Amino acid sequence: MIVSEPGYRFNEQNNAVAAWQNTLNPPPPNERISEERAARGREVFVRAGCIRCHAGAYLTNNRVIAADVVGTEPSRAKALKKTEKVFGEPVLYAPDTPVPIPKGAKVLKVPTDQLDREQIRLSFAHGDSPGGYKVPSLIGLAWSTSYLHDGGVAVGPKVSSGFRARSKRHRP
Ligand code: HEC
Repeated sequence: MIVSEPGYRFNEQNNAVAAWQNTLNPPPPNERISEERAARGREVFVRAGCIRCHAGAYLTNNRVIAADVVGTEPSRAKALKKTEKVFGEPVLYAPDTPVPIPKGAKVLKVPTDQLDREQIRLSFAHGDSPGGYKVPSLIGLAWSTSYLHDGGVAVGPKVSSGFRARSKRHRP
């Protein structure tokens, strides 16, 4: 489902907001960390295996991981299970279609052959899949307020013990 306002083209405003979001960068950390300390942190991060999932320039491999593998609260991962009954072939109007959509507007099929079926099953908990969570980027983490998909881990002096308690198996 896509929301578009009369007077714009189909999905024009969503695309504009997405383009603007692509220009946003997190501010630099407010605490200066020495290069040596940063390198040590990096080494621990790699040695602990975090890099398997939090990989690449944005510290995410952009994969959805099964909830039972991540070990965080599993309810949300299953929330879209029932969509399996209503999902159809994905289609869109052409980007130059005016809103309101005129009768007989051209409908384009969204290609999905290149997509990983197992990732789709995990994203929506379809079939016997437990559902999962996408690996978030860890860039700008010092600026965010609470962590994990449900904000279940807050910042503060007890952040590390809270993180361990909420995600018992969130480690390799
Ligand atoms: C098997 C893949 C995987 C590995 C390995 C992994 N993570 Fe994650 N990480 C995830 C997923 C998936 C989430 C999202 C979980 C959720 O939202 O419930 C996550 C969430 C996080 C978050 C919360 C980020 C936010 O903005 O909410 C932090 C911090 C984090 N991981 C750090 C680490 C560290 C440190 C390690 C190594 C000790 C590690 N991760 C290892 C997959 C992984």
